[in-house]
Amino acid sequence: MLMNRIEKAAIDNAGRRALQRHYEIPKLLQLAGGPLPPGAHAVEIGCGPGYGTRLILDGFRAAQVDALDLDPGMIDKARRRLSRHHPDRTRLAVGDATDLRSAFGAADGSYDAAFDFAIIHHIPNWRAALAEIARVLKPGGLFVFEEVTAHALARPSYRLLFDHPTEDRFSAAQFLPELHRHGLTVRDACTRISGDYLFGVAERRA
Ligand SMILES: C[S@@+](CC[C@H](N)C(=O)[O-])C[C@H]1O[C@@H](n2cnc3c(N)ncnc32)[C@H](O)[C@@H]1O
Repeated sequence: MLMNRIEKAAIDNAGRRALQRHYEIPKLLQLAGGPLPPGAHAVEIGCGPGYGTRLILDGFRAAQVDALDLDPGMIDKARRRLSRHHPDRTRLAVGDATDLRSAFGAADGSYDAAFDFAIIHHIPNWRAALAEIARVLKPGGLFVFEEVTAHALARPSYRLLFDHPTEDRFSAAQFLPELHRHGLTVRDACTRISGDYLFGVAERRA
C-alpha cells in the first residue's frame, strides 16, 4: 500500500534521516556483527526516497544495491538523491517487493543481503514478501530488517495520520517464526518502544 501525504513527509525530512544514520543503521550493524563482506550485492525493498539505500552503501558497505519501490514518485526521488552520491552502484526500479524477478530479473540465490527499512507492514500479503526475500538470498545471505508492528499500527496516532493495511498485521512474536518457516534463521533481534518497532538480522539457511 502506498504512503499518504503525511507519511511521505514523516519519512523524508532531516530528523528522520538523522535517526536512520545515527541510530537505526548503527543498531542494525550491531545486530549483523558489522558491514557486509567486500563485493556484496544487496537488494532493498521499498526504498522510498533512497536515503536508506545510501546508508546500505556507506554504512553496510555493499558494493551494489538493487532498490525498488511501488511508488514511481519515490523512485524519482531516490534517483535524484543517488545520482549525486553513488550512481554507478545502484539500480532502481518501480516494482513490487513480492516479485523481484519482474523488477530485476532476480533468480533464486541472487543476493548477499536484503534490506527492509519499515516497508513490510505496508504489504497486505507480508508473508509473500518474506518468501520472496528468502528465495533471492544466497545461502548464508543476510536479511536485515526494521519493522513496525501491529502494536504501533493500532495506536490512535498511527490510525489517524497514516494509511496501512488493517488486516493480518504482525507482532514480533509472529514475524520472527514466519522468517524461520521461509528458511531464514534469526541471528539477533530486539524490539523498541513497548514492542512498536522490531529490529533484526536473519540468515538464509543452506
Ligand atoms: C514507510 S515507507 C519506508 C521508505 C524507506 N524504506 C525509508 O525507510 O525511508 C514504505 C515504502 O514502501 C513502499 N511500498 C509499499 N508497498 C510496497 C510493495 N508492495 N513493494 C515495494 N514497495 C512498497 C511505499 O511506496 C513506501 O515508499
